[in-house]
Amino acid sequence: MRVQVAIIGSGPAGLLLGQLLTNAGIDNVILDRVDRDYILGRIRAGVLEHGTVRLLDEAGAGARLHREGLVHDGVNLAYAGVKHRIDLKALTGRSVMVYGQTEVTQDLMDLRAATGVRTIYNAGNVMPHDFDGQPYVTYEKDGVTHRIDCDFIAGCDGAHGPSRAVAMQHGLKAFERVYPFGWLGVLADVPPVDHELIYANHERGFALCSQRSSIRSRYYLQVPLDAKVEDWPDAAFWDELRLRLPGETAEALATGPSIEKSIAPLRSFVAEPLRYGRLFLVGDAGHIVPPTGAKGLNLAASDVHYLFEGLREHYLERSDAALDAYSTRALARIWNAVRFSWSMTQLLHRLPDQSDFGQRIQESELSWLATSAAAQAALAENYVGLPY
Ligand code: FAD
Ligand code: DHB
Repeated sequence: MRVQVAIIGSGPAGLLLGQLLTNAGIDNVILDRVDRDYILGRIRAGVLEHGTVRLLDEAGAGARLHREGLVHDGVNLAYAGVKHRIDLKALTGRSVMVYGQTEVTQDLMDLRAATGVRTIYNAGNVMPHDFDGQPYVTYEKDGVTHRIDCDFIAGCDGAHGPSRAVAMQHGLKAFERVYPFGWLGVLADVPPVDHELIYANHERGFALCSQRSSIRSRYYLQVPLDAKVEDWPDAAFWDELRLRLPGETAEALATGPSIEKSIAPLRSFVAEPLRYGRLFLVGDAGHIVPPTGAKGLNLAASDVHYLFEGLREHYLERSDAALDAYSTRALARIWNAVRFSWSMTQLLHRLPDQSDFGQRIQESELSWLATSAAAQAALAENYVGLPY
């Protein structure tokens, strides 16, 4: 098989890039190690920036998002038992859209299927080759090895896929920070405790109240790195969440059986550069942020924006300027989000080895945020997403 662009990974990055390319008449194939249902079973992000929504609209995948997504004009920080609202809309003129990553992925998969463009699921041993020359991708399916020749390879295969791994052997410089805790997430069919999100700093640890709809909630608790899902039956989760929320919020919390429960470790990681000849790293393949700033999925979308511009200009305008600028342009936005996600993580979690001095600095920053319009504006500007 021969295509213009071979995309490894059928997560949000790969699917969005694929759709934009297809719409522009650029031939592509997507390969994934697992199948569609497995991908749709992974519960992850929930907050979309304006730029991500615009890009999904541009791809033609925005209809259900606008029908079912929840527009949030504000977000809350809670500490010392009090909730402080940050008015995103008043401070930035922008809102965010609450709509699950699973739904984004489903919409993109449905659109791709309706367009009839090729996706190869359950592809084993996917490997990019010869990206400094004539690139091709190999994979195994039903005991047979296949080869796809292409002009470019988009590595949209996440943190553990082959694209980052081969880039590691070609001079990738990694910047990394590992945080000494994880997030335990629960999805439940209960009405959200608040009409907006609440990020809570509490002496027992961080908690986040998020949502998917008026009847489906998503909650998170900071847990030690060695915590196991089995250690957290539903009742223990709800009890702990109540303890970490302001009194009136805790009283309003509706609880019920979890429909998903998982633990994710927190990490910051950036790969430089994001281009290796004709191989590009996109989304989690190139960078990871801790979820505290709700930036992972949104960064995947902004990478896609820059790469799509590059590929579109290459094929339709015969210019490689935007493609050559991909790594630099994407990394500038990535580092902003990495800095914001790191600072939100520092601000809101209890750090196991925190000194008394560090603890007071955290409290001082929280009270500054609660009282200063300038501090709130800085947080809001980053939370709604910096311009592309
Ligand atoms: P992915 O969604 O990871 O997609 C990569 C795709 O590549 C997958 O479908 C995978 O199957 C495929 N792949 C992997 N290896 C191979 C291979 N060898 N061959 C072929 N295909 C391969 N962000 C937030 O903003 N908020 C959150 O709450 C949040 N929670 C998260 C929880 C977890 C457990 C994880 C892992 C991430 C979370 N994120 C969160 C981050 C966010 O979900 C990601 O930033 C986003 O999924 C990035 O999209 P992507 O398409 O780049 O990568
Ligand atoms: C969700 C996840 C986040 O990491 C975040 O900052 C906000 C919301 C969510 O899953 O809804």
